[in-house]
Amino acid sequence: MPTSTVLSLFTIATGLVLAGLWLGQHVNLLPIDASANAPVYDELFKVLFSIGAILFLGIVGLIVYSLLRFRRRASDLGDGIAMEGNLPLEILWTAIPAIVVLFVGIYSYDIYERMGGMAPLNDHSAHAMQASGEDTRTWGGISPAVIDAQAGVEALPVEVTAMQFAFIFHYPDANITSGELHVPVGQPVVLRMKANDVIHAFWVPQFRLKQDVIPGQPTMLSFTATRPGHYPIVCAELCGPYHGGMRSNVIVDEPETFADWVARNSPAPAPITPTPVAS
Ligand code: CUA
Repeated sequence: MPTSTVLSLFTIATGLVLAGLWLGQHVNLLPIDASANAPVYDELFKVLFSIGAILFLGIVGLIVYSLLRFRRRASDLGDGIAMEGNLPLEILWTAIPAIVVLFVGIYSYDIYERMGGMAPLNDHSAHAMQASGEDTRTWGGISPAVIDAQAGVEALPVEVTAMQFAFIFHYPDANITSGELHVPVGQPVVLRMKANDVIHAFWVPQFRLKQDVIPGQPTMLSFTATRPGHYPIVCAELCGPYHGGMRSNVIVDEPETFADWVARNSPAPAPITPTPVAS
C-alpha cells in the first residue's frame, strides 16, 4: 500500500475517532441527573455513544464514498472485478470489533460494580447473616441492614407494592402510605419491592435506575437522590392494558421539607381515652 494511502487512511481514522469523542461529550440525550449513581451511569453512556458515533460515521461514510466512487458509469456494461478473500483485511475487521466488544464488556462490568450491582455477591457478612438466621426478612437475597451499613448513613426504608396499575409506597417507620414517593435529598433510600399480580418495573429515568418488581420474589433498590425536584416513576414492563398509565412521581425534598411532610402525614396518635371510673 502506498505511503500516501496509509497516511490518508490514518488521518481519516483519527478524524473519525475525534469526531466520535466530541459527539459523545457534547450531545446529551439523557434527562437531568438526580441521583448519586447517575454520573457513573452517564460516564458509561458517553463512552458507548462515542463508540456508536465513530461506527455510524465510519460505516455511513464508507457507504456514501463507495456509492459515489464505485458507481456504474454510463459506458460501463461489464461485470465488476472478481475478488476473493483478503486475509489482512479479515483479521483487521475481526480484531477491531473483538477489542471494542471486550472493552465495552469489561467497562460495563466496572460501572455496574461502582453502582453497587455486585455488592450483595461480595459481601460475605450478608451471607453469614442469612445463614445464622439473624435477619430472615431478606429481600432478593440482600439484607437491608447490609445496605444501610454500606451507605454509612442510616438509610430510609420504603416498601413499594406494585399492582395493576399503581405503585403504593409505605414508610414502615412513620407508618405512612402514599401514592407518591417522597424522599429527602442526600439520604440513602432503600426500596423493598413486591408485586401483587404480574411483573412490573420501577423506573426513574432521572435516577438512571430501573428494577423489576416480581410477584413472589421481592427485589430491592437503593439510591441517594442528589437534586430536589419532581421526577416521574414509570412502569417499564408491559403489565396489562393500562401499563402505559402506570405512573407515579418521586418528590425529592430538602431534609426539612421532607420531615415536614412526614409530620403532616403521620397518622395521629390514638386519643387517650379516660378510664371509666366505676361509680
Ligand atoms: Cu406495571 Cu407496566
